[in-house]
Order: sequence, then structure tokens, then C-alpha cells
Amino acid sequence: MLLCLLVLSFFKFTFSLETPSQACNKVHLPKNVGELKILSVFSNAEENYTSPYLQGIAPTEVTSINFCNVTVTLTHPGDDDVVIISVWLPLQSWNGKSLATGGGGLLAGEFEVEQAPGVALGYVSAATDAGLSNNGTIGASSGLWVLNNDGSLNSGLLTNFAYRSIHDMNVIAKLVLRTFCGHAEQYSYYYGCSTGGRQGYLSATHYPTDVNGILAISPAINTPQVSLADFWPSVVMGNEVALPQCVFSAYQDAIIEYCDGLDGVLDGLVSMYNPDSCTFDPSSLVGQSIVCSDINSSITITSEDANAVRKIHQGPTSQDGKSLWYGVPPGASFSGLASTTVVNGSLVIEPFQAAEYWIQNFVFQDPNYPALNMTYQDFRTAFDLSVEKFSAQFGTLQPKLDEFRRGGKLLTWHGLADQYIAHSGTVTYWNATTASMGGAEKINPFYRLFLAPGAAHCGGGSGPVPVNPLAALTAWVENDTAPETLFASTTNAAGQTVSRDLCLYPSQLAYSGMGDVNQASSFNCR
Ligand SMILES: *[C@@H]1O[C@H](CO)[C@@H](O)[C@H](O)[C@H]1NC(C)=O
Ligand SMILES: *[C@@H]1O[C@H](CO)[C@@H](O)[C@H](O)[C@H]1NC(C)=O
Ligand SMILES: *[C@@H]1O[C@H](CO)[C@@H](O)[C@H](O)[C@H]1NC(C)=O
Ligand SMILES: *[C@@H]1O[C@H](CO)[C@@H](O)[C@H](O)[C@H]1NC(C)=O
Ligand SMILES: *[C@@H]1O[C@H](CO)[C@@H](O)[C@H](O)[C@H]1NC(C)=O
Ligand SMILES: *[C@@H]1O[C@H](CO)[C@@H](O)[C@H](O)[C@H]1NC(C)=O
Ligand SMILES: *[C@@H]1O[C@H](CO)[C@@H](O)[C@H](O)[C@H]1NC(C)=O
Ligand SMILES: *[C@@H]1O[C@H](CO)[C@@H](O)[C@H](O)[C@H]1NC(C)=O
Repeated sequence: MLLCLLVLSFFKFTFSLETPSQACNKVHLPKNVGELKILSVFSNAEENYTSPYLQGIAPTEVTSINFCNVTVTLTHPGDDDVVIISVWLPLQSWNGKSLATGGGGLLAGEFEVEQAPGVALGYVSAATDAGLSNNGTIGASSGLWVLNNDGSLNSGLLTNFAYRSIHDMNVIAKLVLRTFCGHAEQYSYYYGCSTGGRQGYLSATHYPTDVNGILAISPAINTPQVSLADFWPSVVMGNEVALPQCVFSAYQDAIIEYCDGLDGVLDGLVSMYNPDSCTFDPSSLVGQSIVCSDINSSITITSEDANAVRKIHQGPTSQDGKSLWYGVPPGASFSGLASTTVVNGSLVIEPFQAAEYWIQNFVFQDPNYPALNMTYQDFRTAFDLSVEKFSAQFGTLQPKLDEFRRGGKLLTWHGLADQYIAHSGTVTYWNATTASMGGAEKINPFYRLFLAPGAAHCGGGSGPVPVNPLAALTAWVENDTAPETLFASTTNAAGQTVSRDLCLYPSQLAYSGMGDVNQASSFNCR
């Protein structure tokens, strides 16, 4: 680390022999790196870089940053892919660490959005497109990349998206860093939320020694099931009735009010880990009239509406009524998965796009498949197909962290009001890991989960959101200070600060019986 800092300050400030752009041109890679074939390496110096992107890993501002912007393209011989990997090397004060980042939806990487905060914090930060953008020629979020021209699945890109691309990114980022600095990083990390969180889990499973620490937030693990469950609310509305958002909002408010006190304190947050313990009955709002701004009139809630809400909460079920996966948790917004809008006076369903594309392109391999017209039986067929076709690469029902436990740390937080990915899927993973490895005390040394009441997907929502989870992870990795709690904070609708020290799962927040319900200090973990 010191060497890199010295080299930079030596050239840049002492003698000014080398400008930042000259320094950046020092990055050269061999033609072949393991089984990867390097196609090109571009680099340029970015000076005074300022970015609006502030992801929820640590409080930071991205202003006046100088870094080398290195872009590597490579291919896996035989797979005919072109993978774009971006590595940003901070020119001011490198902290000696690297931070690889992940994607969202059907994207493997978000690039600037995730790299900017990392480089501002002093990390060498990296992102990859996993080859999904076909060398920058198509948008990857449609998932059309999964289909070859003849309609068959592109197995190389599927492997990249599942886990290989995170490994390649780690390999390349570390190599670029060594070429540039003359020595390796001290610590390496990975951060991702949603699909990025899922990539973190699969990275821990498939390449357990790649990084020292993984921060995986609101992870979209159990992908074969979750991708279908995320379409369930659209199927319900297609088969029952589409609801304007005002009705959903009325339900969300009523549910929070009904289940808020179940944990013994009225703090505006549904805090129970088990969604079934919130026994709100949707039919209790039938007959209620509400003013509805979506449709510019008042509307009376019907029993059909109540039935749809019940099914959306319940999640998809098999023919005989057994749960296939979790539904939208109580207290979460319906606007993520049960979005609707008024077009020319009629209410139309706006399906969650990543789920629709998954069903069309991944499951049925037909971009024109009319997913919105699915019957419940069609949906179940799609669900089974998804599990059958994609569990080998994306499945997580049988966690495999035995290699990772030897040196890695995995930190996750998940909102209890996550509107896209139910926390119960993460709890399922935690439960299965615990069961196979001999109990919580056996996994706590390398895997810790925190559930956040009222917090939404990757942040937002009405509940406190972890403020600096990356610092919690680095302290754990570097100082062996394992997080017992995770500090979280937000500003509520009334403008007040609400904070909590989130509890290490499976312990839960409990009100001490006195003190401000907005203050972390009024709660402890039980
Ligand atoms: C960056 O900012 C510094 C100080 O404000 C200024 O001197 C320099 O010219 C700027 N560099 C570029 C490339 O804009
Ligand atoms: C980094 O380089 C790539 C490829 O040359 C370019 O597309 C991108 O805009 C650059 N990013 C920044 C922040 O300069
Ligand atoms: C990728 O696209 C760039 C232009 O953006 C082009 O120069 C390069 O040759 C392409 N690489 C491959 C392997 O097609
Ligand atoms: C509701 O009324 C507003 C203002 O009159 C109008 O702009 C809007 O288009 C209306 N919305 C619908 C769904 O009719
Ligand atoms: C709304 O109706 C108008 C007139 O009938 C039509 O031209 C337009 O395409 C419609 N818009 C949508 C989104 O269906
Ligand atoms: C879906 O169903 C509607 C009504 O049943 C029909 O008008 C429409 O053509 C169908 N869409 C597709 C893509 O099959
Ligand atoms: C996880 O295990 C706990 C304890 O056995 C159980 O109460 C809970 O329902 C399980 N949760 C899920 C989502 O499987
Ligand atoms: C490790 O502990 C030292 C001494 O308390 C502290 O200065 C340092 O910031 C800690 N490192 C991390 C990554 O938290």
C-alpha cells in the first residue's frame, strides 16, 4: 500500500514528472490470464470527478475524486462472449483495499452507480457487465441476452451471470491493481444489493477465497423461486381484479396499524420476523370508501379487492394450496410488485419487469410469451419450470459455505418491509445454513444476518436503514470485531430521526418499557 502511495505522490506532487494520465497508462495486462483471453485494455485519468450516486454502504460524498478509469474487455474462449470489466484506481489516497460490486435485476453490474462511492472511500472499485451487454451494444436488463439466435439458452452468459463474472472481476481488478501499484491489496471486499446480494452469496459458494468480506444486502437469492414470486401479484390481479394504488395504500396503512403493536410497542413499524404472526384480515376494509387520487374519485373497497390483497400477501401456492414461495410481507409497499396505473381512463397492471422478462426469456425462451395473460395453472407450470431449469446454477436451498467459513465473512441486512424480495427467503437460507453447520454459534463467526423493521428494498421505507454496514464488515474482517448490532437510522414522515441498533438474527428488538420509541437506546435485543 505504502509503495503505491509513495509512487503516486512522488510523481505527482514532488517532481511532477508524471501526470495522472501518464500514471494511468502504466496498466498493461498479459494476453491470457488463466483461462481468460484479454481483448483490450483502455485507461484514462478522471480528475475532479463528482457523482450524485451515494449507495447505502457508508456515508460519503463523491466530489473532486481523481482516479484511473481502466476498462478491460475479455472473453472465455469457446463461449464467444465479450465481458467488460471496469476498475477504478483512486489517485489520491488508496486505502489499500479493493471493492468489487454487483448488479440489480437482470444486470450483472451497475458500474458508476456502485463504483463512485467505493472510489470516494479510497477503494479500488470494480464492476462487470458479465458480457450481458454484448460489448455495449444492447441493454442487458431485458434479459434477451440469455437467448441465442436460434432460441436456445446462452449457457456461457448464464454461467457468467450466475457466478463466473464476479470471480473474473476479482481476478482482473487485483491484477490491474498489482500492475499499477507493484504489489497486492491488503484486503478485498465485495458489495452488492438485490441481484448484487445474490451474486455475493453465489461468489461465497463458488469462489470462497476470492475476497475477505462480502456485504450482501436484500439478496435476491433463491432466484428460481423469487423471480416467479415477484410476478405473482400481477397474476393475481390479472385473474382477480386490478387495484388502484390508493386501495393498496389504504391496506398498507391498515396493516401497519394492526400489526405495529405485536412486538409490545407502538412505533409505526411492523417488527415481527414471521409474516404469519401479522393476522390482519383484508376483508375488514370491505365497504370502506376512500378518496382515490389515481382515478380522481372516491372508491369503495370490495371483497374482490380484499381477496386479491390476501393472495398477494400469501404468495404463490400450488394447486392444493401449499405455499410455493413467500408473498409481499405485511407492512411493505405494494407499489413494487403490484403496480398499476391509469391509461386512458382504465386501470392497467404494470408487472415487475425483471420478473416478466425472466418468465419470457429464461423460462419459456419466448420473448413474446403473454405473461400477463397467465392463468394460475400457467403460473404454476412456469414456477416448476423455473426451478427445474435454473436451480443448478442459481439455486440456494442447500447452502454450501463450508469453504467460505475458513476465511471469509458474509454480512447481510434485509428489510422487513422489502417490497421486492421477502426477507423470509434470506431467513430460509440462514436456517438451512444453521441446520447444516451445527447451530447459530457455529455460523456467527463468518455469517451474520440483521433484519430491519420497516426498511424497504436496499434502503428506503419507513424504518431505520443501516448507516454504515461496510464499516461493520471491514472492522469484522480486519480487527475481528464482529458486529453484535448494526446501527440504522432514518427520518420519519414527521421529520424526526428514528434509530435502532438492529439485532443479530435470530434475536429481536424489544422495547425496554421506557424512553423515546424513536431512539435506539430505548430498545435492546432478545
Ligand atoms: C481540478 O480542480 C483543481 C482545483 O480546483 C484545478 O486546479 C484543476 O485544474 C482541476 N482539473 C481539471 C482537469 O479540471
Ligand atoms: C471510463 O472509461 C470507459 C471506457 O473507456 C468510458 O466509457 C467511461 O465513460 C469512463 N468513465 C468515466 C467516469 O470517465
Ligand atoms: C467492442 O466494441 C468496441 C467499440 O466500442 C470495438 O472497438 C471492439 O472491437 C469490440 N470488441 C469486440 C471483441 O467485438
Ligand atoms: C385527475 O385530475 C387531474 C387534474 O384535473 C388530471 O391532470 C389527471 O389527468 C386526472 N387523472 C385521471 C386518471 O383522470
Ligand atoms: C389513449 O387514447 C388515444 C385516443 O383514443 C390513443 O390515441 C392513445 O394511443 C391511447 N393511449 C394509450 C397509451 O393507449
Ligand atoms: C391477453 O388476453 C386478452 C384478453 O383476454 C387478449 O385481448 C389479448 O390478446 C391477450 N394477449 C396476448 C398477448 O395473448
Ligand atoms: C427459521 O427457523 C425458525 C426457528 O426454527 C423458525 O421459527 C422460522 O419459521 C424459520 N423461518 C423460515 C423462513 O424458514
Ligand atoms: C481497527 O482498529 C483500529 C484501532 O482501534 C482502528 O484504528 C481501525 O480503524 C480499525 N479498522 C477498521 C477497518 O475498522
